[in-house]
Amino acid sequence: MSNIVSVKNLTRVFDVSKPWLNRLIERLPKRMLTAVSDVSFDIPERTTYALVGESGSGKSTIGKMVVDLLTPSEGSVEIEGINLRETRDAATIDRIRSDIQMIFQDPFASLNPRWRVRDIITEPVAARGGKTDGLAEKLLEQVGLSAEDAVKYPHQFSGGQRQRLCVARALASEPKLIVCDEPTSALDVSVQAQVLNLMSDLKDEHGLTYLFISHDLTVVRHMADTIGVLYLGRLVEEAAPDDLFTRPAHPYTAMLIDAAPRLDAFGREVEPPEGEIPDPIDPPKGCAFHPRCPLATDVCKVDRPALERHGLGRVACHHAGQIRLKGAA
Ligand SMILES: Nc1ncnc2c1ncn2[C@@H]1O[C@H](COP(=O)(O)OP(=O)(O)OP(=O)(O)O)[C@@H](O)[C@H]1O
Ligand code: SF4
Ligand SMILES: [Mg+2]
Repeated sequence: MSNIVSVKNLTRVFDVSKPWLNRLIERLPKRMLTAVSDVSFDIPERTTYALVGESGSGKSTIGKMVVDLLTPSEGSVEIEGINLRETRDAATIDRIRSDIQMIFQDPFASLNPRWRVRDIITEPVAARGGKTDGLAEKLLEQVGLSAEDAVKYPHQFSGGQRQRLCVARALASEPKLIVCDEPTSALDVSVQAQVLNLMSDLKDEHGLTYLFISHDLTVVRHMADTIGVLYLGRLVEEAAPDDLFTRPAHPYTAMLIDAAPRLDAFGREVEPPEGEIPDPIDPPKGCAFHPRCPLATDVCKVDRPALERHGLGRVACHHAGQIRLKGAA
């Protein structure tokens, strides 16, 4: 299977310094924030790769670099073997760009309120001079809406229906890769499941490849072929969902699984992960997870573990595989 996406040593640093004059007067140094650090992964065609991590872990920054909305500070992104930043051939750039679509979290903000649904859905195709006759109607039916909805405006739809419109629009240009950044986080749980099921079905029907971004491991468990867990901009574990959920090798993954929203016998309990996420401008030395890690030893405080093969996956931990899930024997 060939890779649709190949990300190598991807790094993105943001300059978050105060304005130059303030810095001069207050004698402040420049402040640099490393949002993504040395991240490498591949996504074979027709598979789903899920990126998971807490808020601020760098998920969206990676997503934006993959779709070429943001420039990497270091490293590279190849789509179908092509690095858009190095290619000069306009036709190749055009072809690759039309193979990529992105779906964002907020279906309210990403649909133009003054346009009819038909125009919203067909716009990416019309902009390239493609044929749009009957396209919106066909896609609306594919995403579980009705052809008659084509004449309506976005405000006439619920949140879940709007996200279906975003999916229809993404499909219009017949992409190979869809990068979905928290596409269902703004939706109620039951609606979330419907949209996820729809996306899974469409993947098979249209031969799509997904990069699926979520802060919630449970959301991606059933749809991902591979899950990559991010902590402070670094990939700390990568594995197939079943392996990850039954035998997480990294203590942070185990923490996320233990903290995943679970209902007790009384329908209560939503435990957040333990401890604070450190300041990404001044991350802890050694393994950045050590202040929160139950397995941390002296070596963890000074030596950053590299991401290495572990079983069928990869993990970055000096004590990989030694963590046990709560309640596990
Ligand atoms: N344009 C920017 N300028 C400065 N800092 C940024 C910028 N974009 C992101 N960051 C910082 O980079 C880090 C990673 O942000 P990112 O949005 O990728 O996280 P995320 O994992 O998508 O989080 P969330 O779950 O909240 O969406 C954060 O510390 C964020 O504040
Ligand atoms: S390297 Fe050490 S601190 Fe980091 S996750 Fe592994 S055991 Fe914990
Ligand atoms: Mg984000």
